[in-house]
Amino acid sequence: MSWWEDAVGYEVYLRSFADGDDDGIGDFAGLIGKLDYLDELGIDIVWITPFYPSPQADFGYDVADYRGVDAMYGTMDDLDRFVSAAHERDLRVVIDVVPNHSSSEHPFFRSALEGGPGSPHWDFYVWRDPAPDGGPPNNWLSFFGGPAWTYVPKWDRYYMHLFLPEQPDFNWQSRAVADYFVETLRFWVAKGVDGFRIDVAHALVEDSRFRDNPIGESEAGTVAVGGEFDVFEHVHDYDQPGVTDIYRRWKEELGPHVLLLGEVYLTEPEPVVRYIAEGHLDEAFYFGLNRISWDAVEFAKRVRAACDAMSRGWSWVQGSHDESRAVTRFGGGQHGWERAMALWVAMMGLPGTPFLYQGDELGLDDGHVAIEDIADPVGLEDPEAGRDPCRTPMPWTTGVHNGFSSSQPWLRSARRRPEETVEVQMGDPESRLSRMKELIRVRRATSELRSGELRWLESPPGTLAFSRGDVAHIANLTDDAATVGFEEGWDMVHVVGGRVTRVGGQFTLSPRCGAILKRSTAN
Ligand code: NOJ
Repeated sequence: MSWWEDAVGYEVYLRSFADGDDDGIGDFAGLIGKLDYLDELGIDIVWITPFYPSPQADFGYDVADYRGVDAMYGTMDDLDRFVSAAHERDLRVVIDVVPNHSSSEHPFFRSALEGGPGSPHWDFYVWRDPAPDGGPPNNWLSFFGGPAWTYVPKWDRYYMHLFLPEQPDFNWQSRAVADYFVETLRFWVAKGVDGFRIDVAHALVEDSRFRDNPIGESEAGTVAVGGEFDVFEHVHDYDQPGVTDIYRRWKEELGPHVLLLGEVYLTEPEPVVRYIAEGHLDEAFYFGLNRISWDAVEFAKRVRAACDAMSRGWSWVQGSHDESRAVTRFGGGQHGWERAMALWVAMMGLPGTPFLYQGDELGLDDGHVAIEDIADPVGLEDPEAGRDPCRTPMPWTTGVHNGFSSSQPWLRSARRRPEETVEVQMGDPESRLSRMKELIRVRRATSELRSGELRWLESPPGTLAFSRGDVAHIANLTDDAATVGFEEGWDMVHVVGGRVTRVGGQFTLSPRCGAILKRSTAN
């Protein structure tokens, strides 16, 4: 079994986690100071978002130096200290790698822009001639809105960018680009990094003929960024042949113990399977629940379909720094949190690695950011779609700026209520934080029993019930009571967010409740 298979991951959005030097921006010093908190929470993997030198047009997902540390986050020594301090606590470190695009300030792109087709870096990026009418070469759109192409009059060419114009796409047909990234990954592995979260892992390769994307059906109930982007079927800019070969080479070069975790942002499970099944990536996030509104029956159906499509290799997430927080998307407040917790009970038992997003353990709703304080480039275009509300600073205390920093945080937001903070929740055995800790503890305590194959148990729509070896997990996502029948010999170990009543082998869970059972013969 690989080390990540029985681990629990945790995403740190570095800018907003903890500020060690009081400049209002989260950093390595702050993170190091919170490692004991993460250790006590019981997680095993810390994934940190990009810390590389960057103009921050997309808050670090526009990298200007793939082998450096931006001074706003600290120094390379601080990063080294962080890796050692994490390892001392048996926490693994996963860093973000951003191979789809660089910053337009990266020396490679600057060289291409200045030297034109004669530059040694011209071919590092995707350049095309204008269409006959002088317009963009095709109808591809940027995920953040507007065309995926920017015209450079000096060279009479367009360059492609699936995101901001400040994020030019690399040309992965270039061997030099491929070699550069392998060297970069080796550099970080030599520093002790345990794995990589691969940004936009599905989109590194483009259609060789750059054909137009057809117009498709807009996905109903979508809540995330995308807008007009979703009007198109992304058959020529996403998930192209050859993309998984990139990861096959990475796996071969880095070896089996370095986790390759892909942000394969395809909402259907089947195409994602290919990224894992052929030994390319180790895991991919499951995003099937992130862009639809809460619907217990649909959620349960999707999770099950994902497991049917692939028996291992999912990283289970409810949210990230890219979409509204799970509790908010699931209805908000107490209800939203209860739903999230019931779903976590399933995610903590399924094969794969559950990944919390910072603040999930506190059961946080979205933060509030006033319209004049919007910082996210997506939000500046469309406040409804903006990603600031999930990126507000982590509420550590009831003090100034919720203990994140003594200076004004980079993202201004409304103060969190005392009961939302770590300080208050820490001392309360009934708090959301305590419930999450307990769930992780139970998962760990039963992990050896959970070694068996996944078997689905008969259960009502809107519920997930399964056993793995001598452990069973039930998640009642619905707003009604739900009953699941067991053979003899099963006992309750843990209940989350409600009540379970038992009559013989029938276990009835109250609405939005999760439960973990153990076969008593395994005692
Ligand atoms: C996905 C990242 O999670 C998101 O924050 C970023 O804007 C895009 N990729 C582009 O890198």
